[in-house]
Amino acid sequence: MTLSTLRHTAKTMVEPGQGILAMDESTPTVGKRLKAVGVDNTEDNRVAYRTILLGTPGLGDYISGAILYDETIRQSTTDGEPFPELMQRQGIMPGIKVDTGAKDLALSGGEKVTEGLDGLRDRLAEYVGFGAKFCKWRAVIAIDEEKPSRACLEANAHALARYAALCQEAGLVPIVEPEVLINGAHTIETSFDVTVETQRQVFEQLYRQGVHFEGMILKPSMVISGTDCPQRAGVEQVAEQTLRCLQQTVPAVVPGIAFLSGGQSDEEATQHLNTMNQMARELSLPWQLTFSYARALQNQVLETWRGDAAKAEQASQALLHRAKLNALASRGEYTPDLERAAA
Ligand code: 13P
Repeated sequence: MTLSTLRHTAKTMVEPGQGILAMDESTPTVGKRLKAVGVDNTEDNRVAYRTILLGTPGLGDYISGAILYDETIRQSTTDGEPFPELMQRQGIMPGIKVDTGAKDLALSGGEKVTEGLDGLRDRLAEYVGFGAKFCKWRAVIAIDEEKPSRACLEANAHALARYAALCQEAGLVPIVEPEVLINGAHTIETSFDVTVETQRQVFEQLYRQGVHFEGMILKPSMVISGTDCPQRAGVEQVAEQTLRCLQQTVPAVVPGIAFLSGGQSDEEATQHLNTMNQMARELSLPWQLTFSYARALQNQVLETWRGDAAKAEQASQALLHRAKLNALASRGEYTPDLERAAA
């Protein structure tokens, strides 16, 4: 592993005007998304869908990298081209989700801890062989009156740090994703407190494991009101509180922050990112702020396609349009009237 390679990859992932397409849904999760638009979760349908996403002409103009699932990095398009090769042609770096999912944390009353460290060194070596340049591991932190517990925060932060160290040893940039869930009646103030505490724990553990901050990307959730909270924080407040949280927790040498969308609407996710980038300019923040969305990039693609091959091109256009708007938001140059413009 050379630090300069990690630094270069990380910088390329978050170059201004570029973001990351998260399409690393596990087989059960992609099945849920397909079912919602009336498509069966067969391998052929998954390949057809992923061919639409990665085959979108011009996608590399806005997307620096895409996070794949284990199945996808081994699969080929409907025309028989391995997905990593198609990505290379498109100028999109392959990334890979390497956690094996959030499992019940023992003795915790329903909290989760993300697993996948066993055998990870060997799996990473295999993914390097497939051309992977970066990885993702997602921890899930829920909020309610009793949650999150100290045990949950510490266990997840520790696992994220162990994962990140193994990635860097293998020459892969770790995307470190501690997701504070949006579900619940909590206020934006609670979201702020929990996200600060989560990220503090994460960076403490990353430091203890010797992870190089300049060779990683943080993928946080935005600081936002819970879905059932009666007082909804507006765009400005979400942007302000999210930036304040980052300022309090993230070392300046981290090259980039690529947000998850976490169940926000497509437009909300874009607006929040845009406003943060506008504010970041005034504050001279040290990091690039961009997107690593799954749902907020894919919702319209699925809605348009619905398993109909005749709609594949239109579905690709929907992805390109959303990717372009988010790329503009990563520069603070998005305006809502662009929603109706063609890609
Ligand atoms: P969402 O953007 O749909 O939250 O997904 C991002 C992600 O990668 C979840 O792990």
